[in-house]
Amino acid sequence: MAAVASTQTVRIKVDDIEIEVPKGELIVESAKRLGIEIPIFCYHERLKPVGMCRMCFVDVGFTQDDGSVRPMPKPQAACTLPASEGMVVTTDSEAVRTDRKGVLELLLINHPLDCPVCDRGGECPLQNNTLEYGPSVSRYHEVKRHLPKAFPLSKYVTLDLERCIQCGRCVRFTEEISGDGQLAFRFRGALMQPSTFKLTDFDSKFSGNVIEICPVGALTNAKYRFRARPWDLETTAAICTMCSNGCNVWFDHRSGKLSRINARTNEAVNEEWTCDKGKFGHAWYNDERPDKVLVRDGEELKPASWSDAYSQIEGAFSGGDVAGLVMPDISNESLYLFKKLFNDGLGSPNIDHRWGGEKIDDQTVSTAIADFEQMKGVLVFGSSLADELPIVFLRVRKAWLNNGTKVIVASESPTDVDGFADVVLRYPAGEAASFAKRIANLISGKKDVEKFATDCGVDPDELKEAVAALKQAGSIITTESLENAKAVSTLAKLAGVDFNYYALHANGQGAREIGITPGDGGMATGEILKAAADGKLKALWLVNCDPTRDYPDKDLATRALENVEFLVYQGDRMCEAVHYASVVLPMAAPAEQDGTYTSCERRVQRMQRAIRPIGDAKPGWRIFSEFALRQEAATPHFSAKEVLQELAAKNPNFATVNDARLQGEGLLLGDGKATKATANGQG
Ligand code: SF4
Ligand code: SF4
Ligand code: FES
Repeated sequence: MAAVASTQTVRIKVDDIEIEVPKGELIVESAKRLGIEIPIFCYHERLKPVGMCRMCFVDVGFTQDDGSVRPMPKPQAACTLPASEGMVVTTDSEAVRTDRKGVLELLLINHPLDCPVCDRGGECPLQNNTLEYGPSVSRYHEVKRHLPKAFPLSKYVTLDLERCIQCGRCVRFTEEISGDGQLAFRFRGALMQPSTFKLTDFDSKFSGNVIEICPVGALTNAKYRFRARPWDLETTAAICTMCSNGCNVWFDHRSGKLSRINARTNEAVNEEWTCDKGKFGHAWYNDERPDKVLVRDGEELKPASWSDAYSQIEGAFSGGDVAGLVMPDISNESLYLFKKLFNDGLGSPNIDHRWGGEKIDDQTVSTAIADFEQMKGVLVFGSSLADELPIVFLRVRKAWLNNGTKVIVASESPTDVDGFADVVLRYPAGEAASFAKRIANLISGKKDVEKFATDCGVDPDELKEAVAALKQAGSIITTESLENAKAVSTLAKLAGVDFNYYALHANGQGAREIGITPGDGGMATGEILKAAADGKLKALWLVNCDPTRDYPDKDLATRALENVEFLVYQGDRMCEAVHYASVVLPMAAPAEQDGTYTSCERRVQRMQRAIRPIGDAKPGWRIFSEFALRQEAATPHFSAKEVLQELAAKNPNFATVNDARLQGEGLLLGDGKATKATANGQG
């Protein structure tokens, strides 16, 4: 793999330029340091090198004592060749070009001439390398190999076997990165083909990545096939908002519509991966969405102006008990102005962003995603990590695979982490808290390891080793989905290890930092819904949430929507709540506006507007800002940046945030130090 741990360096020459590189670094990487690109197919810097395609041939020699260079008799694969003292590499010579031409001629014997209709056309390494190094005409007149075309490996990934050049990247991805090992090579020779075992569905949670790393158009995106050519697309740097990991993505769009999502590299967050939820889960952008301001007229919702809608809301929200509930997948700017409007403008402490499960005061987040690689031990407690925090899952797996991090799972049912964990502990449903206490006793030495291991049916030695690693430099992961997480936080304190109570929604952590929770004497989500259901709430403002979908007690949620006097639904997606609304306010989706999001690890990242908002939709922060002007005359906010500046000035959690610091990898709040985000946003 690309990274070489060696601190020892060697001097080598690449194309007559002398350079010092870590001993053992692969030549393909050493060349990159000089800006020299060696053509590759099978090599991928995040996968182990296999030397399968031979595209990366270079000439190599060794400097002798008398200063002369003794050449190796045959070309060498730069992707498997480690740098050693005195090595002399030539990446561009007549011989090397002949070799590369030969490799390409061989690959093209069977590769179909699909480029004009292939999704990869225009961004295909095989096309590019052929143009640069390949033969201009083919010497073959024989019939090409014919294999199934457009074979659906899964609902997301389509395989065109004729196009496969057998580089093994997809197979190695499932073995080394996602760890589900779902793809393997079947058959041999020209018939060798990547496929799932027994042709079952390729249902990896990370399947979309193989589309991006396939160096030809053999693996294509079933949702994007034949929708656009790369040169039709505009692409904008964006953040995935389908969960709290904050993956960096490219938002590819065409004529104002989302076309596809590709991973964007951020070494601190997602490296260059996405999960399928993120890669394929943004399709709702193109669905039917609220695009007009609507106000209720009897049984019907009728189009209205923003001004009419604001007037109606103003009347309904003045006097009496009013409340606001939000789904924390909107920007920091929108959350901040939502809180400001309710607490200051409307004088209501009744706001919340939490939708079930026990909420603990200790909302600590101590470990940044990349820091899991430094951990000696990790305990994943009560979370199905691959589903809830897919990118944290990949990082923990990487730490285990590459650095030998000991991983313990404690959960009531099997999870994907079990597949590689050193110790798997199972507790009965509903007994997370008591089990956390038992582990705490184990770690503090009050409980005998042998006895505990026997009770849990695990190997005592492995348990001892894993617990020792955890105590040495460890981190505990749990999420908002775990009830009774307080017991886990106590366990972390006792063990003296990092504790992470990760949020699950795109800006769940932002909502914690900003304090979207009830103020003094205010009602929490359940109490707000109860008051609404009992006809005691005058008006309720829903922002991107639908209690009938998001709250565990569906019956209470439905009665709340039926009985509240006045209901505002403000959102970027259609939902059941729209049908109960007195006023519907169309809200711009994340990629339709500028804004920032705080990911589960407390990283604030910027999202810029990629496409125009649908219909009459406006960014959430603008809606709150415009409405607030009716409460009190003030200078309006003209941009999301201005709102962020105000947030940074008013909320100590965001004190370090400014535009310049959000460039690149984004900014960890508290400068990455373990910090407790408090519910009132006061640091
Ligand atoms: Fe390589 Fe693509 Fe074939 Fe997989 S499908 S082996 S990534 S060419
Ligand atoms: Fe999006 Fe979360 Fe998947 Fe990353 S892990 S791609 S943020 S859904
Ligand atoms: Fe080196 Fe394939 S890239 S052998």
